[in-house]
Amino acid sequence: MNFKVAGGIIGELSEKIPSNLVALNEIIKNSYDAGAKNVNLVFDTANKKFQIIDDGSGMNEQDIQELLHISKSSKQYGEFNIKTSRYIQGSKGLGILAVFKFGKTVKFTTVKNGKSLEFILDFDILSSLDDVSEYEVSIAEKNVGNVPSMTSIEVTLSDEQNFGLVKQYFNDGRNRDKLLNAFLDVNFMIVLEIDGEKFQTKQVDLKTYSPEKKTFDINYSSDNQAVSFVDKNNTEYTRSYPFDQSKNVKVEMNIAAFSFPGGKGKDPLGDQLFLSPKEDNKLTPLIYINDNLFNNYELFEPDIMRSAKGGQALPQLIGYVKIYSSDKNMEFNSDRTNFQENELTAYIANFLSEINKGNYIQVYTIRWKAWLRGGLINGKYSY
Ligand SMILES: Nc1ncnc2c1ncn2[C@@H]1O[C@H](COP(=O)(O)OP(=O)(O)OP(=O)(O)O)[C@@H](O)[C@H]1O
Ligand SMILES: [Mg+2]
Repeated sequence: MNFKVAGGIIGELSEKIPSNLVALNEIIKNSYDAGAKNVNLVFDTANKKFQIIDDGSGMNEQDIQELLHISKSSKQYGEFNIKTSRYIQGSKGLGILAVFKFGKTVKFTTVKNGKSLEFILDFDILSSLDDVSEYEVSIAEKNVGNVPSMTSIEVTLSDEQNFGLVKQYFNDGRNRDKLLNAFLDVNFMIVLEIDGEKFQTKQVDLKTYSPEKKTFDINYSSDNQAVSFVDKNNTEYTRSYPFDQSKNVKVEMNIAAFSFPGGKGKDPLGDQLFLSPKEDNKLTPLIYINDNLFNNYELFEPDIMRSAKGGQALPQLIGYVKIYSSDKNMEFNSDRTNFQENELTAYIANFLSEINKGNYIQVYTIRWKAWLRGGLINGKYSY
């Protein structure tokens, strides 16, 4: 007796991916791991195609064999890859199945060392099989000479209605800006083209982000275990906040607090990157883990104090909560929007919640605003 896996598992696994954003993040992560500097995502309704093209390392036969080996990966999550100067993103050997969220027929074309390889994966055939290992993937090979390495994944859109939804989804700036800023890496450019209209990654500098509406820059680093609040006049106020440095994880926060009179305005910053995808007109800092956007909007909940503080105007926070770890316990659940629960991830979750809610960032920002109104005492803020 031995285990066998029927084709239905493929649909089960790709269905675990909860949103188009998370699905594309999986595909882009592969381009990132392959050292690509550019990835282009092209939706083309007229030709019923969605193509993802990157200028990464490409794949040879052995790499393709790895790709076809489901739930097996040779990648070490979170390790720093000296060759690409990036943290490795893959670990599960499942990400590629995200392509089936967009269509049922997927053509791969990849070039590595002057050789082009092409193959097609058909979801319907694959899922009808009694045993997935029966699926024969035939690979067409061509010598292309001195052509730069690349990978193209071309999905044929099988269902126009579904495609309309995908288009609508990425025409929403809240989703699109998050896709385009999936990585904190100036050397990685994402271009999204929707029926001829182009959008691309743009760098956000919190220092210059809407300075007239900003009240404070708030920074924290687990290395020096201190939160610093800096106001418009560059006056700094710091308070220590402990971090367990024996944990194999680092946290850095770069947050900007804004105060919009009258509470939440409509799109108050004129930018949609920091708008919560969950609630209209709510600003939120974004969590990045090993430089990749973590589509989780609960771990650092900017409104956590809303009910506790009643009518008091809370600071509206945007910016970055950056977590770095190569620990093997840094694990994500199957829909990739939360941690798997273990001692390490519980520590991180609790730390984020406490430093935010724990009468810390939010409370001190509110208090400091009150001190500002009261003015400086002997050139210093007192507390
Ligand atoms: N754009 C790409 N360029 C080069 N190689 C790729 C590309 N996309 C996929 N691969 C290869 O296919 C393999 C399988 O990708 P897949 O995303 O399924 O797994 P993974 O990246 O190893 O782990 P995870 O499921 O955590 O993403 C990768 O390990 C890589 O070797
Ligand atoms: Mg991957």
